[in-house]
Formats: sequence, structure tokens, C-alpha cells
Amino acid sequence: MLCEKYEPTTLGQLIGNSEARKKIAVFISDIVNGKQRKPLLLFGPSGTGKTAAIHAAAASNGFGVLELSGSDYRNVEKLKKTLVPATRSKGLFNKTVLVLLDEIDELSGKFDSGAERVISEVIKTSLQPIIFTANDFWDRKIEFLRNSVEKVEFKKVSDYDIALFLKEIAKREGCLVKDEVVDTISKRSNGDVRGAMNDLEAMLGSGIELLDNLGVRDAKIEVFGVLDKIFKTSSFDIAKNAAVRSEIDLEMLINWVDENIPNRYRSKRDIERAYSALAEASKLSNNATRTNYYGYLRYAQILASSGVSLAGSGNVTMLTPYAFPTRIRFLSATKKTRSGNNAIAEKLSTVLHSSSKQIINSYLPLIRSMLRNLETVYGEEKMMEMAYSSFRLDEDDVKFIISVAGPVR
Ligand SMILES: Nc1ncnc2c1ncn2[C@@H]1O[C@H](COP(=O)(O)OP(=O)(O)OP(=O)(O)O)[C@@H](O)[C@H]1O
Ligand SMILES: [Mg+2]
Repeated sequence: MLCEKYEPTTLGQLIGNSEARKKIAVFISDIVNGKQRKPLLLFGPSGTGKTAAIHAAAASNGFGVLELSGSDYRNVEKLKKTLVPATRSKGLFNKTVLVLLDEIDELSGKFDSGAERVISEVIKTSLQPIIFTANDFWDRKIEFLRNSVEKVEFKKVSDYDIALFLKEIAKREGCLVKDEVVDTISKRSNGDVRGAMNDLEAMLGSGIELLDNLGVRDAKIEVFGVLDKIFKTSSFDIAKNAAVRSEIDLEMLINWVDENIPNRYRSKRDIERAYSALAEASKLSNNATRTNYYGYLRYAQILASSGVSLAGSGNVTMLTPYAFPTRIRFLSATKKTRSGNNAIAEKLSTVLHSSSKQIINSYLPLIRSMLRNLETVYGEEKMMEMAYSSFRLDEDDVKFIISVAGPVR
């Protein structure tokens, strides 16, 4: 993935957040000079380089990193066994090891008081430098840290910086991307460098200009971040919170997860379990629309995120980029879809005696579900025959109609 390929290896390679980077650089040089320092707490929005900054600083100074995150805080005994010995010694050959307690706001306040105690103790006794990261400094779950850390705020990176960065990456990838496209991605990224790089990757990978793909997404949607949390963590809370906070539309989430389960999970059992959670999610979501009882949506969202996350047994591969859902791709391979719709509407207008617009918006969805039902009942061949005799639709038309999820306006 582009994020991995272009992961910064020095603090200077990060874009934006120069104040924060300066503070980290001073911290590191103090450590090199043997000064005692309070732990740092890097906080700020997702995808702005908090974790990456620490990895880069460690790598360029020859420090090791001991990194814990999310689910590591759940098991207090294990946490203690990992943290205590690692922080009580100066390490083999006096090697400095940065202890990175990443995403510390994933501590669940109610259940993790044991973890709080271990961490508070380690802060007092550690012989190694400690760094925390979190999204929200004021999160109550990390109240216990506030007085023992030095704050380093990360802010959203500017559109301008992101655009320059993306252009450089596109160039290095040997791809010509229109400035207009890069500018749109940068603006929509809402300061999230990771999100912007993933969007760029999806564009480069798709071979066509998918501006409309971005058009169907809200600026706040960080699809890739949410998918990462679902597939990588096997954690109920992390997956659910990612889905809830992202404000990603449920149907869209289901489509994305659907497309990527076989890309991520490797064991057949995980894949099966993930699909069955997703199928339940989809059923509940349909129920919600049918009955107008939107309470179902909440459960559907949980099944599509946590359900799928818990289906994973840890045997995950992150090597391939996320695939765009075929359905969205279909909807937004704009010219093809629009012209396809128009051509079909024109054909139908002689049979249905209505305007193209009316056909696209009212008849096509009906015909689509009718054709799908006919196919289920009579099989493909018979359905094709019926489509031709009733509507003069040929095989290509039918395939096109059936595969598109809804009306395209
Ligand atoms: N400021 C930046 N400069 C260059 N690349 C960046 C920057 N921020 C993020 N990236 C890219 O995005 C990837 C993910 O960023 P990172 O993991 O550091 O985000 P984060 O701030 O820790 O987010 P989260 O709060 O979700 O953990 C990095 O590996 C890097 O490739
Ligand atoms: Mg991070």
C-alpha cells in the first residue's frame, strides 16, 4: 500500500505539524543526551502522522520500539509481563527502546483500571522513554495520564501540503494524475494524510478517473481506516467505535466489507463467519427500511463492524490494497453507467411511452427487481427471453440493469 511504501523514515519527511515534530526532535535529543524526560502524549486527528512520527524518530536514531495498542490493554497480566521487564532495564547493550503506548484512548475506562495501574506505575519507574498517542486529549479514559505527560498536539494537515505530497507520490509512481483530481482528494481528506493516500491509491489502481467515486463519499468517511480497524483488531469495541464515529453510510460499509473479506481473512472459517455476520447485518438493514423501525440499523452496524471483526482469528493479510466495492465502481464508472442507463431508457421509451428520466428513476428499479426475481424463479435463460419479448432488452442490457445497485441520477 502507498502508506507503507512511503512511510516516512525521518521526522523531516513528515508533512505538516512542524511544531509537533520539533517537540519530538527535542525529546529525542534529550534522550540521546541522557536527560530524564516526562513521557510525551501525542494527540490529534487520525492519519496525521502520530504513530509514523515515532517510528521515524526511532528508526533514524537507531532506537528500538516496543509498541502496544488497542487490544493489548485488555489483558492486564500480559500487559504487566510485557511492560515491566522492558522498562526496568536499560536494554541489551544499553540500547534505547521507545515504549510506544499507541491509541491509549482505546483503554476502556470501566474495565481496564488494572491496566491504568500498571501504566501509572511504569511511568514512575521506567528507565526507557515512553510515548503515548491518542485522538482526544480530553477523553475521560485518559484523565489519569494528564498530569504525568507532556502534550504534543497534532493538527489536521492542510489541503495544500497534502496535495503537494500526493503529486510527488503520483510522480514517483510514474502516474499522471490531473491536478484537479489530486486537489479534490486533498480537500476531501479533511486533513487526514492516510485517507488521502488511500484515496489516491484507489484512483491509481482503478485505471480510470474515479472522481465520482469520491463524490459518493463524505469528507468524514475514512473507509480505509474503518476497514483497518475491523479487519486488523478482532475487537468488538474498536471495530464498532470506528464504524460509529466515521459516519460512514451503512449500505456503503456493508459493500466495502463484503468486497474485502476475502482479501483480508485467510482462513476459510474466518471468511465464512465474517460473511454470516455480514449477511445478518444486511438482513437487519433491509428490515429497517421495510418496517421503518430504524432501531435495527444500530444492530446492523454492529454486526457489519464488530461481527466481522470478531470473525477474524488473527490470520489476516494486509498485503493487497483495499478493493473498491464492485457496486460502487459500477455506479461511478460514470460515463459507462450514465450512458448505459440512457441507452436503455431510450430503448424502453418506445415500449413504455415515458420520458427517459422517468424511466431511469421509476421504471428501471422496478424492472431490475422484476428481472432479479424472474431469474431466481425461472433461471437466467428464461429470464433473458422474457426481457427480450416484453421490453426488447438484449443480454447486455439485462446484465447491466441487474448489476447496478440503484438508480443513478
Ligand atoms: N504527516 C504525515 N506525513 C507523511 N505521511 C503521513 C503523515 N501522516 C500520515 N502519513 C501516512 O499515513 C500513514 C498513517 O499515519 P499514522 O499511523 O501516523 O496516523 P496516526 O496519526 O497515528 O493516526 P491514528 O490516530 O488513526 O492512529 C503513515 O504510515 C504515513 O504513510
Ligand atoms: Mg496511530
